[in-house]
Amino acid sequence: MACILLTGATGYIASHTWLALKDAGYDVIGVDSYVNSSPIVLNRLREIGGFEPQFVQGDVRDASALDRCFELGKQFGGVRAVIHFAALKAVGESVERPLDYFENNIGGLLSVCQAMKRHGVYDVVFSSSATVYGKPESLPITENAPLRATNPYGQTKLMGEEMLRELERCDARWHVAYLRYFNPVGAHASGRIGEDPRGVPNNLMPYVAQVAVGKREHLNVFGNDYDTPDGTGVRDYIHVCDLAEGHVAALRYLADKGQSLTVNLGTGQGYSVLDLARAYGQACGREIPVVFAPRRPGDVDACYADPTHAFNAMGWKARRGLNDMCVDSWRWQSTNPNGFEG
Ligand code: UFG
Repeated sequence: MACILLTGATGYIASHTWLALKDAGYDVIGVDSYVNSSPIVLNRLREIGGFEPQFVQGDVRDASALDRCFELGKQFGGVRAVIHFAALKAVGESVERPLDYFENNIGGLLSVCQAMKRHGVYDVVFSSSATVYGKPESLPITENAPLRATNPYGQTKLMGEEMLRELERCDARWHVAYLRYFNPVGAHASGRIGEDPRGVPNNLMPYVAQVAVGKREHLNVFGNDYDTPDGTGVRDYIHVCDLAEGHVAALRYLADKGQSLTVNLGTGQGYSVLDLARAYGQACGREIPVVFAPRRPGDVDACYADPTHAFNAMGWKARRGLNDMCVDSWRWQSTNPNGFEG
């Protein structure tokens, strides 16, 4: 079976993808600098998966760290494809430190592509985001909707897509899966890995999880006058294990079809902030207290995917519902109240 290099390997989405790849029979090499993740993830992967993680600690902008990964891959017949997760991802922070986002996200992608070329590897899965659609003109969002960035983080995802498309145009050996993630949430069913944000969580579900476990008093609901059924923002939450399986499907597509692919990874179902808080309350057996607060700048009313193309092209669709997302998040949060380092 093919060997896959994961960048940002100990991060939230990559660690779940690592397990999905092992389940599907792939060999995996991981690289991460731990800038936003913990080495304890490797112990947990060992424990859940019963395998020895093949790992290099390093930054993707460091060519020698990437070369070590490709060397490690030789024991498995050589790296065949790369899934490039490593990136900074906080919208607010990107407005404060745009140059860090360009350096890490664009510089990181460039360095990964250069290493791939050095080692004769041309299949890459790129972690893009629904953020490339900006404020959607119509819903659900299809892959040919107009693209625009509304902050530096979104701009790096858009620029990343454009850089890879240009690369494909210049050299037909390159094949890219552009995966546009909607809102990844939940955790592995074992409860041993999950999302472990540093500081105050920016995103809804990790914040709700910290309210549920008693670390925060209440959820601030950012806006209740949106053009949605209950006035609160609507998003397409997708279980991180479904998302992980989407990466396996994309790798198979690249290997079998020998062509590039752009797909939304979402469920197609939108839920409001209040829907999610209610579902989480049921999962943890305690109502989540909410306080209405002003709108958060830059937020849109509603954003959800048309996931039809992902199913038609790759035979993939999300299988897990909102209840699974909340139950699995709660299992992780309640047994690891302080995350990996706790
Ligand atoms: N929200 C709250 N309270 C909170 C946090 C969030 O009410 O404490 C609301 C937001 O206003 C929004 C919804 O919950 O209506 C979801 O917010 P998230 O921050 O969880 O997710 P976003 O949809 O804003 O952001 C996600 C990704 C970004 C990406 C963006 C657009 O986290 O990386 O989608 O694709 F840029």
